Order: sequence, then structure tokens, then C-alpha cells
Amino acid sequence: MVATFPALRLRRMRRTEPIRRMVRETALAPGDLVYPMFVVHGRSVRREIESMPGCFHLSPDEAVREAEEALGLGVPAVLLFGIPASKDSVGSEAYAEDGVVQLAVRAIKAELPELVVITDVCLCEYTDHGHCGIVVGGQVDNDRSLELIARTARSHAEAGADMVAPSDMMDGRVGAIRSSLDEGGLRDVPIMSYAAKYASAFFGPFRVAAESAPQFGDRKGYQMDPANVREAMREIEMDIQEGADAIMVKPALPYLDVIARARDRFDLPLAAYSVSGEYAMLKAAAQNGWLDERNAVLEALTGIKRAGADIILTYHAKDAARWLRAS
Ligand code: PBG
Ligand code: ZN
Repeated sequence: MVATFPALRLRRMRRTEPIRRMVRETALAPGDLVYPMFVVHGRSVRREIESMPGCFHLSPDEAVREAEEALGLGVPAVLLFGIPASKDSVGSEAYAEDGVVQLAVRAIKAELPELVVITDVCLCEYTDHGHCGIVVGGQVDNDRSLELIARTARSHAEAGADMVAPSDMMDGRVGAIRSSLDEGGLRDVPIMSYAAKYASAFFGPFRVAAESAPQFGDRKGYQMDPANVREAMREIEMDIQEGADAIMVKPALPYLDVIARARDRFDLPLAAYSVSGEYAMLKAAAQNGWLDERNAVLEALTGIKRAGADIILTYHAKDAARWLRAS
């Protein structure tokens, strides 16, 4: 006999919090989170980013303090973005030994050796034209960009980064980075590739924060069309073949189906990047009193985990970790 209403009542298992806890299918934990930070040159700099309330431009010394706080809350990893002293056509500071990310990596690893320091590898914060690669004849030249992107990754790893995360979306960059790391004796440094990264309007607040908006055109010639999911599987497959150790889908909330499909299909650790626009929307609504920030943030992050992400990169990481520990 198949039980159905009135014998069957699904509400029974939702009656009390302890019961709900027992049957909860998805457990979000501070250990799932990665905290992205923006580093700038200088000392004692801690400047709030207008488009991302609660996030700051941090000099290396302040980045150490911020990272220490995140680690203390149970967040195991940070992701570093750099705002250089100056920009040029080839993004020189991206791969400079005294580049801002390199300085911050050294400072953080010296104080917090157990914290996993991941670096975002791209040229757009460092180029005067704001594109993620080298521009030749008004176009982003894939193959010429590879060498500089690989050099950037190697420079980060030489400074002590535990993991590198290329976000440029050039074809062949994972392979190029792997070769460059291996040649440099950095065989044990893993690559987390932004494998399926979309040309998204939700990067808007980040581009204000990183001063990295393209000065002409857009990124649609290298980042993915938001309408495509089968192509995302090909992007991921290609990065795995080139040697990616973990894969990422970005953004997260508008792309939960992409996360779910990637989870079904691939066995690598899967990360999802809940980007600046997702953060800014929740922050703005919360600041207006239109959403309960704690509940909305934890619901959004739980949804991303439920879709299949093992790792969630989020600007809410410190707050979320604090709330999770208190609950
Ligand atoms: C650099 C990069 C971007 C983001 C991560 N790495 C911006 C972009 O591609 O324009 C977006 C992060 C965010 O919006 O939070 N390529
Ligand atoms: Zn870029």
C-alpha cells in the first residue's frame, strides 16, 4: 500500500527545529568558504569600497589582519586581487616581483602559514585598456596573452601562493600555466581554473573596486555567453584536459543549473564564485531594510552548495562564518 494523504504528511518531519536539523540535506560550513580581498600598495590603508559596502582596499599589512580574522572564524582560504601602482599596455605589475599581490602573499604567508592563499591570475587590473589579455589591432590576442598570464601565475607561486586561479578565459591558459609552474619547480602548486566564466553584468561592482572596466568594447569575445550551458561543459572539459586541479563556475546564483550539471558530470572539486553583483544586491536590499541580511545570505549560499558546489567564493565569507558558528 502506498501511503498518501491523509496518512502521509510531509509536515511531520518539519515540526520542530531538532527534527528539521536531522533531515537537513545540505550543510553549509565556514570551511566551504573562500574570502576574496583587494590589496593595494602602502601601509595602514583600509578604504571601504563604495560599490561593495563592508569590503575594503587593504594594504598588505591590513590584508594580514583581515585574513587573520577570516581564518579565526574558520574560513580556510582567501583569494587575492591586486590594484597596481600604475597600469600599462602589457600589465607589467601583474608579474613584477614587487607587485602588490606578490607583496601581500609574502606578508600573509609569513604571518599565517596555515591559511590557504589563492591568487586571481589575470591582466585586466594591470592593463591600461582594462582587458584580460594583450590587445593587438583592437583585439585581445589569445596566444600572446598566454605567456604573460603564465608568467603572472608563476610569479604569484614564487611569492608563496598556495594555489593560482586564472580568470582570463584565454584558450590554453591552464596548460600554459601548468608548464610554466612545472618548469619553475612549482609542481605542487594547484590550479583552480575559472573554467566556466560568463560575460556577466554582475561583475559591475568589482570593476569599480578593481578599476578594471574595459576602456573599449566588452569581454564577450572571451567570456561566455550567459545563454550557454553545453558550451560550459566543453570549457570545463578543456581545462581538465590541460591539467586543472579544481574547476569554477562564475557567477553563482544566476547559473545554478551550470553548477548542478558540472557536479553531475565531473569529479574534480567544484567551486562557485558568488560575485560582486550578487553581494551588492543583497547588501543594498539589507541596508534598505528590505531583506533580512543573515537569512538571505545563508539561504543564497546554501542554494549554491545544494546545487553542487564544494567551495564557495563569497564576499560574505566572514559574516557567514560568524552566523554559522552562532547557529
Ligand atoms: C578578473 C576578474 C573579474 C572577477 C574576478 N576576476 C572581473 C571581470 O572579469 O571583469 C569578477 C569578480 C566579481 O565580480 O566579484 N578577470
Ligand atoms: Zn580579467
